[in-house]
Amino acid sequence: MYYHKILVIGGGLAGLRAAIESGPVVDTAIISQVHPVRSHSGAAQGGVNASLANNPQAADDNWEKHGFDTIKGSDYLADQDAAEVMTKEAPGCIFEMEHWGCPFSRTDEGKIAQRPFGGAGYPRTCFATDKTGLYMLHTLWERSVKLNIPLYEDRVVIDVVLEGDACRGVVCWNLQTGEIESFMGEAVIFASGGSGQIYGRSTNALISSGSALAAAYKRGVPLKDMEFIQFHPTSLFGTNILMTEGARGEGGYLINDKGERFMSKYAPKAMELGPRDIVSRSIQTEINEGRGIGGKDYVYLDLRHLGREKILERLPGIRDLAINFVGVDPIDNPVPIQPGQHYTMGGIDTDVTGATKFKGLYAAGECACVSVHGANRLGGNSLLDTVVFGKFAGKAAADYVLAKKDQKQGEAAVAKCVREIKGRIDALLAKNGPENHSDIRAEMKETMIKKVGIFRDKNGMEEALAKIKELQGKYRNITVQNKGKVYNVDIIRAFELEGMLDVAEAIVVGALKREESRGAHSRLDFKERDDVKFLKHTVAEYTPQGPKISYSSVKLGKYKPEARRY
Ligand code: FUM
Repeated sequence: MYYHKILVIGGGLAGLRAAIESGPVVDTAIISQVHPVRSHSGAAQGGVNASLANNPQAADDNWEKHGFDTIKGSDYLADQDAAEVMTKEAPGCIFEMEHWGCPFSRTDEGKIAQRPFGGAGYPRTCFATDKTGLYMLHTLWERSVKLNIPLYEDRVVIDVVLEGDACRGVVCWNLQTGEIESFMGEAVIFASGGSGQIYGRSTNALISSGSALAAAYKRGVPLKDMEFIQFHPTSLFGTNILMTEGARGEGGYLINDKGERFMSKYAPKAMELGPRDIVSRSIQTEINEGRGIGGKDYVYLDLRHLGREKILERLPGIRDLAINFVGVDPIDNPVPIQPGQHYTMGGIDTDVTGATKFKGLYAAGECACVSVHGANRLGGNSLLDTVVFGKFAGKAAADYVLAKKDQKQGEAAVAKCVREIKGRIDALLAKNGPENHSDIRAEMKETMIKKVGIFRDKNGMEEALAKIKELQGKYRNITVQNKGKVYNVDIIRAFELEGMLDVAEAIVVGALKREESRGAHSRLDFKERDDVKFLKHTVAEYTPQGPKISYSSVKLGKYKPEARRY
């Protein structure tokens, strides 16, 4: 059994930032499924928001304006205290990244460059060409190496040990050896990323399965606002690789089959820089009404008018992706795009410090729901969320451990959990049923994108729920073909699928019960936002029969919910 006082689950931006905060004061280790620089944070392209006011068009920008844009963008479901904390902290966090060596793009005067992003009143998205997440990730990884923070990589967290109201550690599958390993800690910080792989057409990496979050959910950790799934307007047709919002921030157009800049119909002022929920719905409406290119499921992202020089300087990454994956050079031709599942707004229910209802259990980044993103996250606020709330969670966990009197209490509970997990793995390997877990996964993804996607209604979601139940039944009759130990991805994919189906069910049930349209949750049978009945957070708790849903209040502040116009 390994022991560290703080265990950080996930080596992406939120996990690294948390460990950098707690590591210097309390023994902290990172446990990660992949090497940190391969984590999904590296896929974030366009930038990170902070009201630095470096762009001449944003001279009077400030954190309050950023806060208001975030709250309005969230369709008023964000907790206003949390949104204010995040936007107030933002400039300091960006300067910290700069001082740690993050190579941000620069203005002519040498300041950090900022570009416009959707749903924001000002150009406040700091960027490093179109590889911002990757550069931030390398910066924090180097920092964690400098601080000698131990890393356990190739470990998939498959269970969390909760004893009474306290968290004692986690249980992992070591991909290199196929052994079950136990980690005991005084505090655990989940920073395990999003759950995008539950959906088809996702921009998310394969590791973004939500399996760690699912393990916590199954053990009784409540999930908040899971029905709010973000679709990024511009993912590359065919592969759904992200084509950054920065492309529209730099001036890119969206064009339908008739050659029209159709956003003038949907967001006449903001045009292509409306918030993501609105732009995704607009693109999908064009496609559904037959104005996709050649009647197909995509429209064009047109960058040609930006010119070669600007594309090479500001958007080199997406140019390479478009050339390599669809054979289109954006300098010469428009790029085929469609909305793709991109972000899980909901997650483990936490307060602003990252604390959950269990002592010693914290969460930060995409797996957490603080909530700052509410029903629709603004582009550029996810990277910000990772560094602000990663730092907060690291500090809160360290303070908790330093004050904790009864240390090393969890050994028996951890050992019991290991026995249970070994039993589950043995049972999984012993299954000899006719079902193929990859087929079940594919059906789940297809169901979620088709029936619980950009547009939703009761009939479609009831069909989705029935299908998820059917797939849970089929799951009991699978066979894992590969019984080996070393890098057995077959068994991991099979194991995690059970939790993904649980989380899919929580998404569908929360969405069915929310009889309104708000942010990314757009119901064809309840088209209006209903602040009387649904200005509240959905809380899902696991039961073997399905999620138990309750509601908690949204923390309002000085901004009263109004109609969103862009
Ligand atoms: O479009 C993008 O570059 C993605 C940014 C984000 O999700 O915040």
